[in-house]
Amino acid sequence: MTKTTPKPAMQNGEDAITLLTKDHKKVKKLFADFAKLAKGEGNEEAKAEVVRQICMELTVHAQAEEEIFYPAVRVAIKDDDLMDEADVEHATAKSLIAQLEAMTPAHDHYDATVTVLGESINHHIKEEEGEMFPKVKKAKVDTAALGEALTQRKHELQTDRGETKPVKARKAQSR
Ligand SMILES: [Fe+2]
Repeated sequence: MTKTTPKPAMQNGEDAITLLTKDHKKVKKLFADFAKLAKGEGNEEAKAEVVRQICMELTVHAQAEEEIFYPAVRVAIKDDDLMDEADVEHATAKSLIAQLEAMTPAHDHYDATVTVLGESINHHIKEEEGEMFPKVKKAKVDTAALGEALTQRKHELQTDRGETKPVKARKAQSR
């Protein structure tokens, strides 16, 4: 009668690695959008909007990762060097994000700051997807539970930033 432990419920979110990889894709696309806009002229408003989205996506992603994913992974994979690097890369990104949030497209080094942020995020994504995530899979971390927690936390953080409307309000609008 020793029933195996029930499978973790997944109604509320996706696997953590799937979720984080999707976030990475989304933000890469935004950086590509920016690069296209930066080639043309008179795109200041569109550029500012893309950058606003980049900063929002990265901030929410990084905070949820730091609060939920990294602590669990640090314990599970026992690779402090890799995790320390990830921490420093997040700190670097945050500092560039803060600079961008204080800038407008009219600033001298606006485009360059976005580009450098994009490059550093690209490197960070490569390390996560190429090194960290494979180790997480090997270490048999409960990525389903982490995914659920990440989904919930991301939603809270987006709501705090006024990015998501409560579900009820959205439904009421679409009458
Ligand atoms: Fe990250």
